[in-house]
Amino acid sequence: MTAAVIAPPAPFISGLAGVVAAQTRLSHVDGEAGQLLLAGYPVEVLAPRATFEEVTYLLWHRALPTAAQLAAFTHALAAQRELPPAARPLLQAAAAAQLPVMDALRLAAGTLSLAPDSAAPDLSVSGVGLLARFPTIVAAYWRLRQGQAPIAPRPDLGHAANYLYMLSAIVPSAERTRGLETYLNTVVDHGLNASTFTARVIISTGSDLVSALVGAIGALKGPLHGGAPGPALDMVFEIGDAGRAEAFLRAKLDRRERLMGFGHRVYRVRDPRADVLAAAAVRFFGSDSAGDRALYDLARSVESTALALLAERHPERPLQTNVEFYTAPLLHGLDLPTDLFSPTFAVSRAAGWIAHCIEHQATGRLIRPQSEYIGPRDLAFVPLAQRD
Ligand code: ACO
Repeated sequence: MTAAVIAPPAPFISGLAGVVAAQTRLSHVDGEAGQLLLAGYPVEVLAPRATFEEVTYLLWHRALPTAAQLAAFTHALAAQRELPPAARPLLQAAAAAQLPVMDALRLAAGTLSLAPDSAAPDLSVSGVGLLARFPTIVAAYWRLRQGQAPIAPRPDLGHAANYLYMLSAIVPSAERTRGLETYLNTVVDHGLNASTFTARVIISTGSDLVSALVGAIGALKGPLHGGAPGPALDMVFEIGDAGRAEAFLRAKLDRRERLMGFGHRVYRVRDPRADVLAAAAVRFFGSDSAGDRALYDLARSVESTALALLAERHPERPLQTNVEFYTAPLLHGLDLPTDLFSPTFAVSRAAGWIAHCIEHQATGRLIRPQSEYIGPRDLAFVPLAQRD
């Protein structure tokens, strides 16, 4: 019998930058070329054309659905939007404490263990009811936090349209639905980002999908990952006028603050998703008189000033516009307040997290890297009474 070969530990790499920790068919991020493929399709081709249900089906089942498959999948999602009764008092308590929406989403996502089929061993079955309920949690909480009654989901509306409806009680126009759908498709998956890695680590231990999603929400919440678009928009609002951009941004950089919506761990060129969202914003603002075209124009101008200043400060490191910068004007144009930007990201990314869990489950390999010990050794134990 041959002894198992244990590879020697690899050298420590801060932040795991550049380390390949999974193989995937779900998305390919080419940071040098500025290209993103979603299951083989360039994001700029797929995102503005497909429905969110089609893209989710593609990721979970590795092929775009036929008309019959899409109808069945859309119906299954629409049929499972109601929350377990236990979610309501939890959301009410969160609203009384005015918790951030991401915290309420994390709390209520845990109650989805009470939903039928949530523990089905086939994750493409359990995933349907979990994905279906994310928008219901966000919309119900958003309304409760403002002292309004939640609005029941409408099974005749698609995933994106129903989300907007549950927030505002207004059935959205085709243009609004398209705008949101393009956003949801654009951010649905992106290689081994921090929240997806979290979900894969949890599912790799043999744990359940609800646990993986709850952990992933926690990772997405941070401002270095999914929490940037709100602050990016706040920054544009605060600047208010293109003429003030340079002084404002210089002062921020002098204080060693980061400009939200710029820089990326993988992209060394412009994030391709920024262009998809900028194009969606232009299309939307061109078709919907409610859209805030002036804000979009201001964002464009702030962007070019920011890029010039970042190049000046960091000539050694390309810092380009990332997806979060154009998330802001698009979601704002759809009347979503900044507090809902990260939760809306989660509504989309949940489909990607579930896809990665399905994919990882097939390999069954526990993710368990090593650490490098750099602390002291062989210390003598001092009894409590003798410590200063
Ligand atoms: N503004 C100003 N300086 C920046 C920025 C920025 N947005 N991004 C990086 N830098 C600087 C850092 O200060 C650092 O400079 P220093 O070496 O002088 O301290 C240098 O560039 C390298 O920064 P790192 O943090 O090592 O780069 P990393 O690849 O780890 O960071 C990250 C990537 C976290 C996205 C970073 O660019 C950032 O903080 N951006 C702002 C937040 C943001 O937009 N997040 C959304 C990312 S997209 C997403 O997750 C969906």
